[in-house]
Amino acid sequence: MPDAYILAIESSCDETAAAVVRSGEQLISNVVASQIATHQPYGGVVPELASREHLRAIVPVVRQALHGAQRTYESVDAIAVTRGPGLAGSLLVGISYAKALAFALEKPLIAVNHLEGHIHAVLLEERQKGNHVLQFPVLALVVSGGHTHLYLAAQKKDSWTYENIGHTRDDAAGEAFDKVAKLLGLGYPGGPVIDRLATHGDPRAVTFPAAQIKHPDRRQRGAGRSAALQDGRPRFDFSYSGIKTAILRYVEAHDMRSSIEERRVALSKIAKPKIEDYLAHGDRRTLDLVASFQRAMVEDLIDKTLKAAREFEVATLFVTGGVAANQELRTTFEHESAKQGLPVFFPSRPLSTDNAAMIAAAAYPKFLANDFAQMDFSAEAGLVLR
Ligand code: KG4
Ligand code: ZN
Repeated sequence: MPDAYILAIESSCDETAAAVVRSGEQLISNVVASQIATHQPYGGVVPELASREHLRAIVPVVRQALHGAQRTYESVDAIAVTRGPGLAGSLLVGISYAKALAFALEKPLIAVNHLEGHIHAVLLEERQKGNHVLQFPVLALVVSGGHTHLYLAAQKKDSWTYENIGHTRDDAAGEAFDKVAKLLGLGYPGGPVIDRLATHGDPRAVTFPAAQIKHPDRRQRGAGRSAALQDGRPRFDFSYSGIKTAILRYVEAHDMRSSIEERRVALSKIAKPKIEDYLAHGDRRTLDLVASFQRAMVEDLIDKTLKAAREFEVATLFVTGGVAANQELRTTFEHESAKQGLPVFFPSRPLSTDNAAMIAAAAYPKFLANDFAQMDFSAEAGLVLR
């Protein structure tokens, strides 16, 4: 099989991204234009603004990815694009441009599920390191701003299939990081800030009762098993809205409102706050709360994932998505899964958060299988991975 160069476009949320990947195993170029500055004043992604920013960025970002790969539009073998899940208006910008390129260049078009992309970010980088042997069953935790999913991943020739064995019943883990950061006046996005601040606080200072992060599942009570059942298969669901409420109550009980507001105003005046700025406006109580919150999140994600791994006797663990960039999550996962003799793989940090290289990697098996999209396909905000 000759080399195949796939140009991929990703625009599902607040990053406009394009990348060129060779044969699903070598990252040639990877460009990500972040919209953080646009959304920061609003404390979260504003869908209308996201679409507008994608429209502005898409052409130069794709051009830059081709330039970085020393490729022309004509010398790529296929165009891949994220179909969903994500913001419909944002997805449509990438899809429309990918369709136009594929049509004009007479290249095959490949539609990719964003969540499958996160899983293939791990595969791409392992292949790039020369690691071509993968032990199945594989369990993948996809943990990001919009999703907290556990998938059993299987491969038959060029085709991958996924079985969802757990998902969040309310907030996604990344969403909880973002909401807690906003609640504490730390700005947006919350994950990277909490990650860095947590090392300055005491993770044992505040304890969150198990009930606040464990969804009370009636089917589970008295069943004597580690997980609820659905169609006879165990499930490992997550729930993160309770911990957010617990933090809100803590803030109120400890009269933290006015100091939080002062911090919010002070940080909003700094264009790109550095860790020193956050620390200068971060009191001991806030730092301890942040560290304790992160510890509770990390423990719950790892606990459920490892329980699922044992239940399904998996041989390999993947942890991917924006929250997989979290330092404490990575080190604790490595430590805990090593105790079970289970290898765990993460993407590098730049490929943990949204990017198009992962979309190109997930498109490659579809390219081999001639699994191309028709020109009339559209964005699917709630696209399911199976
Ligand atoms: O995968 P991603 O870039 O976009 C989605 O598909 O959602 O994930 C973004 C999410 C945000 O919620 C962000 O706060 C979180 O990932 N995140 C982190 C870290 N870096 C990004 N959460 C915890 N620690 C981090 N270092
Ligand atoms: Zn994502």
